[in-house]
Amino acid sequence: MTDKLNWDELDFSYTEVPYRWRAYWKDGEWYKAGLETDPQLPIREAAPIVNYGQGVFEGNKAYGTKDGKVVLFRPDEFGERLNRGARRMAMPEVPVEEFVRACKEVVKANRDYVPPYGHNGAAMFIRPMLLGVGDHIQVSAAEEYLFTIYVSPVGPLYKGGLVPHNYIIDHEHDRVAADGTGNIKATANYASTLATAKKIRESGYDDVLYLDPATHTKIDEFSSANFFAIEKDTNKFVTPKSDTVLPSITKKSLLWLAENRLGLEVEEGDIKVDEFDKYAEAGAMGNAAIISPAASVTYKDDRHVFYSETEVGPVSKALYKELTAIQFGEVEAPEGWIVDVDED
Ligand SMILES: Cc1ncc(COP(=O)(O)O)c(C=O)c1O
Repeated sequence: MTDKLNWDELDFSYTEVPYRWRAYWKDGEWYKAGLETDPQLPIREAAPIVNYGQGVFEGNKAYGTKDGKVVLFRPDEFGERLNRGARRMAMPEVPVEEFVRACKEVVKANRDYVPPYGHNGAAMFIRPMLLGVGDHIQVSAAEEYLFTIYVSPVGPLYKGGLVPHNYIIDHEHDRVAADGTGNIKATANYASTLATAKKIRESGYDDVLYLDPATHTKIDEFSSANFFAIEKDTNKFVTPKSDTVLPSITKKSLLWLAENRLGLEVEEGDIKVDEFDKYAEAGAMGNAAIISPAASVTYKDDRHVFYSETEVGPVSKALYKELTAIQFGEVEAPEGWIVDVDED
């Protein structure tokens, strides 16, 4: 089947591969952890994930590097974030070492489907999920849990890779509640964004930005990526500090790279919706989005153009290059960021 895959043509969509990882939890213990072949999940109709959305998930990637290895990017960080979500949603944690081992095993088992180095940033998407299962009709925490990981080779989230995009602010809806679950990757956070996403794509926009739900005056984030802006004159890298934003691993990495490799000032602070003029560049950042620069952001009747409608700004370009060069093994990574799936 792999000979049918054209690595250069991959987009961000699902391809079924032979193996997935599953582990089951009951009576306080994980059991039967291992590889399985059935893509159908063993979930009952009364499961809390299906009825009440008791679930958290992750989205990381495995990369085929320049020297022919297959590596994971900061998998421990993704495991820790999953567990922060698990605690908030009254679910058992997956030990981080077990999370990392499971990611390695499922990638190794599907190695033929890991895009090799040098195909437009194509990589293997990893989707871990922790789900409340079993028969449990009450609105209360499940008594059984399923940890499952599927993987799929993917290309860039947006066609064309590193090109500017047109974004729009949804000023009629909040992504999450002010003291809700915005800072964890709960399945429920995503469903409410789908209707706007559908509508704006039909109008030619690429993605939706949300404001902070408490005051609606500051940028929070996209439905599946964090937001950054580059200050005019200083080139300061600024990204929203907000309890309703998911703490992105890409953001954490770019804050470090901007400061330590590109020598930029960095700030986690407020980006006011009426102060876009302060910034030369802006964009989305995330595991899937990588860096997706903003051509424009539309808020109500105002369409603000950042660096250019057709060109990518120099700081966005430099950040993209530095991050992807680390992920694909072209430059040395900061300690602990890269995990070879073949090493213990
Ligand atoms: C709401 C939201 N924000 C930001 C991100 C980006 O996070 P990361 O860089 O860890 O992929 C994601 C993707 O996981 C997301 O779903």
